[in-house]
Amino acid sequence: MSKKRLLTGLQSSGTLHIGNYFGALKPFTDIYEDYESFLMVADYHALTSLRDPKEMQQNVINVVKDYLAVGVDPKKAVIFRQSDNQDHMELGWVFDCMVTVPFLMQAHAYKDKVAKGLEANAGLFTYPMLQAADIALYDTDVVPVGEDQRQHIEYAREAVGKFNRAYGELLKTPNEMILDGVGVVPGTDGEKMSKSRGNTIPLFGTTEEIEKAVMSIVTDSAGERPENVYAIHTLLRSEEELEVIYTEHTGRYGDLKKLLASDIDAFVAPMREKRAQISDDDVKAVLADGAKRAQEISRQTITKVRKAIGIAL
Ligand code: ADP
Ligand code: TRP
Repeated sequence: MSKKRLLTGLQSSGTLHIGNYFGALKPFTDIYEDYESFLMVADYHALTSLRDPKEMQQNVINVVKDYLAVGVDPKKAVIFRQSDNQDHMELGWVFDCMVTVPFLMQAHAYKDKVAKGLEANAGLFTYPMLQAADIALYDTDVVPVGEDQRQHIEYAREAVGKFNRAYGELLKTPNEMILDGVGVVPGTDGEKMSKSRGNTIPLFGTTEEIEKAVMSIVTDSAGERPENVYAIHTLLRSEEELEVIYTEHTGRYGDLKKLLASDIDAFVAPMREKRAQISDDDVKAVLADGAKRAQEISRQTITKVRKAIGIAL
């Protein structure tokens, strides 16, 4: 039986932290080989909020390096850049013509920006239809995304549904797949680890950077053990192992932090080393190969779409 098809879009979110790893990258690397997987760098989507061309280029390179470093094999997944395949723009436009303005006005990404008083450009407004095109071009079955993207997948279903009702059942209706992560990874202050909070432990940080972050974890001497240290430790060791360690070091929070730092360092070291070995040219080669493989498939869809809407003579 052939594998089901999976596609997801990657946005560069700057320097990754271990919350990103355990909440998003690890669950992805755990399942992607069970599918025929497509990983698309959503650079045209990034243009809705990014004006700096250098940063745009660097972000694309970085996010691919991140995924390669955590173990995605470019032979087993098609890794490509949205802007390398103009079929996305074309189907995006077709979908724009399928849905109404009031419908798009209900999309979170748009509503949130407007509520914050930020510029909501037309690209941001039609963003969900470009995303729908990303998905529909590859006859995608499942789309692994975070909870915040659930609505965008509904929008993709709606666009596909409208198209199919108008022109016949040509496009596949996708489903979201909310990955089973570890839940929320706490940061050094005990709150959700997040780059906007400045409470992160960097995934590809140096030994010193990791140590510095771990030593800053907020501890509370009231409990039996430092909860925030322990919570992060559970990502790396079994409860049985931790029971022994935490009993042996009762009250010695500094030592426990040092142990945690060295466990994190040992865990991330191979990924960090792998990332350092990947050159920009390696990434470009992966993307060039991915673009070819992606186009072979999307061409078939766009050809069907063109015929159906009556623009192929
Ligand atoms: P941040 O909150 O640092 O800005 P993003 O919003 O860019 O992180 O998240 C990127 C991915 O990492 C999302 O899939 C998100 O669910 C996951 N993620 C981010 N922070 C955590 C965390 N503390 N615990 C678990 N998963 C997380
Ligand atoms: N909008 C997604 C995000 O912000 C990224 C994305 C673009 C995407 N195209 C996609 C995700 C297609 C899944 C499928 O994270």
